[in-house]
Amino acid sequence: ARSYSITLLPGDGIGPEVVAVAKDVLSAAGSKEGVELRFREMLMGGAALDAAGVPLPDETLAAARASDAILLGAIGGYKWDNNEKHLKPETGLLNIRAGLGVFANLRPASVLPQLVDASTLKKEVAEGVDIMVVRELTGGIYFGKPRGFGTNDNGEETGFNTEIYSASEIDRIARVAFEVARKRGGKLCSVDKANVLEASMLWRKRVTAIASEFPDVELSHMYVDNAAMQLVRNPKQFDTIVTNNIFGDILSDEASMITGSIGMLPSASVGESGPGLFEPIHGSAPDIAGQDKANPLATILSAAMLLKYGLGVESAAKRIEAAVTETLDNGFRTGDIYSPGTTLVGCKRMGEEVLKALESQK
Ligand code: NAD
Ligand code: IPM
Ligand code: MN
Repeated sequence: ARSYSITLLPGDGIGPEVVAVAKDVLSAAGSKEGVELRFREMLMGGAALDAAGVPLPDETLAAARASDAILLGAIGGYKWDNNEKHLKPETGLLNIRAGLGVFANLRPASVLPQLVDASTLKKEVAEGVDIMVVRELTGGIYFGKPRGFGTNDNGEETGFNTEIYSASEIDRIARVAFEVARKRGGKLCSVDKANVLEASMLWRKRVTAIASEFPDVELSHMYVDNAAMQLVRNPKQFDTIVTNNIFGDILSDEASMITGSIGMLPSASVGESGPGLFEPIHGSAPDIAGQDKANPLATILSAAMLLKYGLGVESAAKRIEAAVTETLDNGFRTGDIYSPGTTLVGCKRMGEEVLKALESQK
């Protein structure tokens, strides 16, 4: 039987709750397809700060690099919010993304028919939405230098960051996005702020140049402010979106709400080589942590992306997706996607129902 090693990074807040559930689902889906998964749990984020004094211990990065794929919950929380930059949970997350070189972050936002009523948008606007946001993940303003705190000519305190992209960074994310678009609806919308920002002017120029390698994909460009508006006006106009690190962060949270909840959106982060990193797009949700209220489906669907994009076991990924669909068909909902007439359940129970659906598959 094929055998793979998976690094689990539960992290903070609801992270451990959703990862525990997703691990069982991942494991069960693997065995159904004759794939053995070996798990190793490592510290990361606030949990690592408390136990080891750093948000990303060397052993964690080493274990992640040596494994076949990584499943991460979420990191962060009030307790560490005022830490110095290098001692923030978020710094650990950025460092593992950079350390693994996972520059392409795929964030699919599709409205499942069962959840049309959970969307805040009108039914006719939300139904059938199926968008893939391709977010650049290891560059831009998140990593650009110079950055820091300083003093201006008036002696006033300042804080500054740099939005910077090189041509090769843009070219590689553009190629990933064109490949993704080619396998989907064949339409790619590049989102930028090229009317104002030099980094975006280069972005648009390079994306346009790379388009010549993909004559079968229809490329369009949109300014980010308009894109934010168009996403709630008529989200069905979008197929694949490619954008920079910070715009992708913001637009994917916005897109998640069209689908009913941020608790539904998975993601896959991949690089040129090495293991991929799979995580829900949501955070540690400190407001509901420890209460068994979190929606585990984003992490369960991230586990499906791990099987598909990380291990190439698409049949097992399909099993998870089908089990999630069946669980929703059976009426089970966590609070974030609840609507009258459905059955309200907690994180654990939702996981058990998905497992049950999975086990009953042929
Ligand atoms: P958040 O995504 O954690 O929460 C936003 C809102 O969505 C909250 O009301 C929360 O309860 C709800 N929510 C999120 N996930 C949910 C789920 N699975 N089920 C049900 N409801 C869910 O964003 P935030 O409050 O801005 O950030 C909280 C912390 O998480 C911060 O420390 C932030 O830095 C961190 N964060 C981490 C990641 C990550 O680990 N990838 C992502 C985003 C934010
Ligand atoms: C995400 C998060 C992270 C990001 C933070 C916690 C660093 O918001 O994964 O979307 O901005 O990338
Ligand atoms: Mn985010």
